[in-house]
Amino acid sequence: MKKINKYWPLAGILLSFWVFLSCGLTSDPASRSRSKGPVPADAPYKKASLPIDTRIADLLSRMTLEEKIGQMTQIERGSLRAGDISRYKLGSVLSGGGGAPAQNTAAAWKAMISAYQDEARATRLQIPLLYGIDAVHGHNNLQNATIFPHNIALGAAGEAELVRRIGIATAEEMAATGIYWNFAPCIAVAQDPRWGRFYESYGQDSSAVARLGRAYIEGFQSAGTMPSLHPIATAKHFLGDGGTRWGSSTTDNYKIDQGNTPADEQYLQEVLFPPYEEALKAGVSTIMVSFSSLNGVKMHANKELITGVLKTKWGFSGFVVSDWGGIDQVSPDYGKALTLAINAGIDMVMVPYDANRFINTMTQLVKENQIPLSRIDDAVRRILRVKFEMGLFDADPVKNAPAETVVRSPEHLALAREAAAKGVVVLKNEGVLPLAPAQWQGKKLYVSGYAADDMGIQCGGWTISWQGSAGSITKGTTILAGLKDTLAAANIMYTASAEFETADPEGLCVVVAGELPYAEGKGDSAELKLPQRELDAIAKARKQFKKVVLVIVSGRPVILDKTALSCDAIVAAWLPGSEGAGVTDVLTGLVPSSGKLPCDWPASANRPSDEKPLFPRGFGL
Ligand code: GLC
Repeated sequence: MKKINKYWPLAGILLSFWVFLSCGLTSDPASRSRSKGPVPADAPYKKASLPIDTRIADLLSRMTLEEKIGQMTQIERGSLRAGDISRYKLGSVLSGGGGAPAQNTAAAWKAMISAYQDEARATRLQIPLLYGIDAVHGHNNLQNATIFPHNIALGAAGEAELVRRIGIATAEEMAATGIYWNFAPCIAVAQDPRWGRFYESYGQDSSAVARLGRAYIEGFQSAGTMPSLHPIATAKHFLGDGGTRWGSSTTDNYKIDQGNTPADEQYLQEVLFPPYEEALKAGVSTIMVSFSSLNGVKMHANKELITGVLKTKWGFSGFVVSDWGGIDQVSPDYGKALTLAINAGIDMVMVPYDANRFINTMTQLVKENQIPLSRIDDAVRRILRVKFEMGLFDADPVKNAPAETVVRSPEHLALAREAAAKGVVVLKNEGVLPLAPAQWQGKKLYVSGYAADDMGIQCGGWTISWQGSAGSITKGTTILAGLKDTLAAANIMYTASAEFETADPEGLCVVVAGELPYAEGKGDSAELKLPQRELDAIAKARKQFKKVVLVIVSGRPVILDKTALSCDAIVAAWLPGSEGAGVTDVLTGLVPSSGKLPCDWPASANRPSDEKPLFPRGFGL
């Protein structure tokens, strides 16, 4: 019989002590997650080598309810006090339209994002923060970023490859400031040009919107300059934001934005669903819910479409984010609104101001089981999945930022100029275009209109500020500067009001007339009328000159009166962005015109109208 070792009893005691210790340290995280204790450096969720599902499961099981609700909370940067990110364990922060650091430079943005990330890393679980922004036509909150044409112009260009490249360029300029989440593309199928967000849409044709939206998402999310960090896009606004009816809005003094979209099964299947089905095929990581209602039901409370269709039927595995205070519109009773919206399937809430009220109300609702914990876990699991998949746990967004020289790089400016040119639609041309440089050697060329030399007007809304503004708001080339550059040999005279000293009855005048910038419901317009000062300039030019070329800078079709219609050429330039030279490339023939109308150009503003459009969708000389 084997000699019994006299040390057995000691071994036994040591062994049981070891077992106890190891249980205490590595017991099922679930039982430990309630502990506020520090997390071991080798916790599975911290290991990039492990499968994402493993990392999610491990992390989720460690999270307290407070930490879970924190991940679902998105606050706008202006409402943050120092320490809020770690205090509330915030999962996300955003810049609302125009939300920028005091010094609007790439370096200042990176410093701001770094500070936010440091706060997030100071929390027990060190879950990195996800920062989101509206870079809807380039990194438009950043001063001197490349501003691309708004989507309506890209719809006129109709070229998926161009849109894909713009997606990549936008991701690069955002990443140069440490930001990887874009609330774009808007894949609204815009029906009524009186809508203040018409220009955010690729147009009235669902299949074109689907094709271009997919191209943008594929480009944006594929941006290869950040090998370890992948930018994520947002398909918005789910569902039916572009189909609302005039007069149905209940928000502020809006008329159509955030209103109601009547939709029968056919309209859903043929118009509204395809852009989202394509967005999912493109692997879009997030989807933003629309303020609007569908058949009278607020989309922010539409469980059938968010959970039933998007998540269950289509298998969307990313996360759904609410719009800016969109949940508050669901019910005057905040608790009821949250219960309806979160149970409908919203995963992250763009609160965007009062973190306290949101977190306290949510905590109460979960405790009362108004919102089941399983719904919270599903929301947090989705948010974590996106953060793991994009690499946010394993790579620092600022340390991985590409060089700032990518902002307004020659390649990006050339791309923006190409896009502006391809978006131009020639609606009329009676022997005046192109203004070929060779023909204008030493000749007098008259230019007027307030949009001819105004960066803010040609960029439109969502530029530097939420609503945008006229004036030299950011770097770029105005249409006048483009003309002066291309027709350097001509003798160009400019006065916005078309009041020239010397009349020249044999001369030619280019009038660049534009809408003043607007965004969202503030741009809802019953008349679709150009500003009176522009109509006056057109009229004066018409009287003084033999030939008049009318260039329209607008986010949508505007009503053309008979004077405007009498011009010898009419060109829709939409909102071409910072590189206005693209517009003059078409006017001067350097680039042949190729744009086609992405929407009908109505003869009058009253809708619904059965009158024939002045120029039908697809038209372009
Ligand atoms: C706005 C818009 C939405 C945007 C969000 C954040 O109200 O509806 O498109 O992404 O708020 O700025």
